[in-house]
Amino acid sequence: QVLLKEVSDFAASTKQELENFRLKYISKKGALAELFEDLKKVPVEQKKQVGKVLNELKQAAESKFAALNEALESSGGSNIDIDLTLPPVPNKVGNLHPLTLTRLRIIEIFERLGFNVADGPEIEDDWHNFSALNFPENHPAREMQDTFFIEKSNKEGGDILLRTHTSNVQIRLLEKQRPPVRAIMPGRVYRNEAISARAHCFFHQVEGLYVDKNVSFADLKQTLFHFAKEMYGKDIKLRLRPSFFPFTEPSAEIDVTCLICKGSGCVVCKKSGWVEIAGAGMVHPNVLKNCGVDPEEFTGFAFGMGIERVTQLRYQVNDLRLYSENDIRFLKQFHTEG
Ligand code: PHE
Repeated sequence: QVLLKEVSDFAASTKQELENFRLKYISKKGALAELFEDLKKVPVEQKKQVGKVLNELKQAAESKFAALNEALESSGGSNIDIDLTLPPVPNKVGNLHPLTLTRLRIIEIFERLGFNVADGPEIEDDWHNFSALNFPENHPAREMQDTFFIEKSNKEGGDILLRTHTSNVQIRLLEKQRPPVRAIMPGRVYRNEAISARAHCFFHQVEGLYVDKNVSFADLKQTLFHFAKEMYGKDIKLRLRPSFFPFTEPSAEIDVTCLICKGSGCVVCKKSGWVEIAGAGMVHPNVLKNCGVDPEEFTGFAFGMGIERVTQLRYQVNDLRLYSENDIRFLKQFHTEG
């Protein structure tokens, strides 16, 4: 009876366990064979009854073996015990693109300053990409940015083109939202340039816009200084050089000291030790007027920077083409920071 219970309770998760079971009970040297041997010694009157019990046991053991064997076969059971204490083989998960990592970091820094994230179309009309931004008709300033034109159009907004900068979103935002407006606008932009290590026909910018009462140049400088410290380290120094953009007055180019980007690997850093990171300025009164905002009541600042450039400084990537070639050896070097 004890054996019968043992046999029917038995479970095997590996072939080895099942084989041990076979050896213990069913094989020629197993417990059953021994019992049948003992049967010879049993007095004749009990032989029938004991024999019957033994046969039941034998049958139970054999059908158990057959059932377990089949179960193991169909589940592909192996001879190897699984060691659950072994460390797992790590799953290969992808990682974010370096430009995405940089964009997320930029957004994080500006969100803490109260900037929203806004978006706009990459296929744009002349009005939002140029005219409303105070680029005069046929003015050479338009040629500063080699434009991909898509379609000549006589419609209100003029020709259709691929936006050459994210400044179009400034206009779209001011057209629909009354100040205060405080937003950054990351996105892809296009310029008709030959592809090389230092230029590409598409790249990414983040535009910043802050329009409210009494926004000053000091606000602009301090905001970008704060950004630079957060992005590049607190010992970074900031420098503004006079510049020109049709949509800002006064305009400036923003340089920072080459704090993290050093040595021969750093091609963007000039010998002077400064590297340009952004264009900026006070929003031109004409731009505000074009969007129905009264420049007597409101002032604002705007800035624009290249995400590739920031990424280049962070990770020392010196060839713009790497960003869009999808080479897995390049892409897997970038890990999300905590
Ligand atoms: N749109 C400018 C460019 O692409 C950058 C810029 C943005 C400059 C906002 C000033 C203010 O070069």
